[in-house]
Amino acid sequence: MIVGCVKEIKNNEFRVGLTPDNVKAYVQAGHTVLMEQGAGVGSGFTDDEYRAAGAEMRETAAEVWKEAAMIVKVKEPLEAEYDLMQKDQILFTYLHLAADKPQTDALLEKGVKGVAYETLIEKDGSIPLLVPMSQIAGRLSIQEGAKYLEKRFGGEGVLLAGVPGTPKAKVVILGAGTVGANACKIAVGMGADVTLIDINLKRLEQLDDLFGSRIQTLASTDANIEKAVKDADLVIGSVLIPGKSAPKLFKAKYLKEMKNGAVFVDVAVDQGGCGETTHATTHDDPIFILDGVVHYCVGNMPGAVPRTSTIALTNATLRYGLEIANKGLEKACQTHPAIYSAINTYDGKLTCKNVADSFDCYEYTDIHTLF
Ligand SMILES: NC(=O)c1ccc[n+]([C@@H]2O[C@H](COP(=O)([O-])OP(=O)(O)OC[C@H]3O[C@@H](n4cnc5c(N)ncnc54)[C@H](O)[C@@H]3O)[C@@H](O)[C@H]2O)c1
Repeated sequence: MIVGCVKEIKNNEFRVGLTPDNVKAYVQAGHTVLMEQGAGVGSGFTDDEYRAAGAEMRETAAEVWKEAAMIVKVKEPLEAEYDLMQKDQILFTYLHLAADKPQTDALLEKGVKGVAYETLIEKDGSIPLLVPMSQIAGRLSIQEGAKYLEKRFGGEGVLLAGVPGTPKAKVVILGAGTVGANACKIAVGMGADVTLIDINLKRLEQLDDLFGSRIQTLASTDANIEKAVKDADLVIGSVLIPGKSAPKLFKAKYLKEMKNGAVFVDVAVDQGGCGETTHATTHDDPIFILDGVVHYCVGNMPGAVPRTSTIALTNATLRYGLEIANKGLEKACQTHPAIYSAINTYDGKLTCKNVADSFDCYEYTDIHTLF
């Protein structure tokens, strides 16, 4: 198969769909890989590295879109790319169609086989192509939190670990899923005093077994959250109810009770945020301060560390991409049925039920009826 990879054109997006090592794997499997010049630069991969891995370079994205049977990307295609898409081309990337009617229309009109990272669901219910980004956001949340606790950013001026003779900073993590557990790991590693709060007691049991006496766990009730947050130096918001907006666990009234210069990192901002006072911020302007509490609410945190993010994402996508390239999309679905769940559009039909439900204007077609 001819596999193509183009430079991301979304604002501040520095990740890339294929690393040189990925190119090597496709080429070794007998495929041709076309790379747009400069596609990997934002993640620190040079054209020479891609060439050495066996890629053929193309000067423009248009050439890659024209020749490739499958395009491997990171972000959804933007308007400038709609006209470049080809009928029956496989587009393997994050699509997030439910919030994007123009893109949905474009994929359907063009007859693109849209295979979305975020809806690829394995038998055990896991979403393997979302996990790496949650791991990164979780780990980064403590790094950013530690930074904004510094005085010069409006923070209270405390070091997470303290030093002998001073108190450790108190970190409270709301939601102990992938983001929360990764935040916990880093906060514990940095020597902070960590409290994890979740509604799922089984999950708390697992993390209690893992971290033992180095953390405290609490059931998620308003009373427990209020008490913990009042004393906290750093609060991480990392709850998720799949498919719904995040519950507002971090109430506006808590701000006045909190320490001046405490920090709230709301990782759940991409689902509306779990703070009543949350509004989305950007890497260019990441924080705002309300009642003395520093809020960091960046919706695409992995973008801050594109090299790690690219490697983590492509570690997860490579096996599925290779399977599709080796067998063709239709056969790959038969041998690995999770890939069915990733197909959002096929031959002009909308094949993802959740996307169809979130609009009222498209007919849903079960992908299993199409091949
Ligand atoms: N900002 C970013 O860049 C970024 C990056 C990755 C993920 N995220 C977001 O982070 C959030 C968490 O993602 P995840 O992968 O950890 O999800 P997850 O499903 O692994 O974990 C969510 C946790 O929230 C818990 N929860 C649900 N309701 C709760 C409640 N009322 N009280 C306490 N806990 C509750 C669940 O039991 C679960 O353990 C999501 O909104 C995700 O989209 C944001």
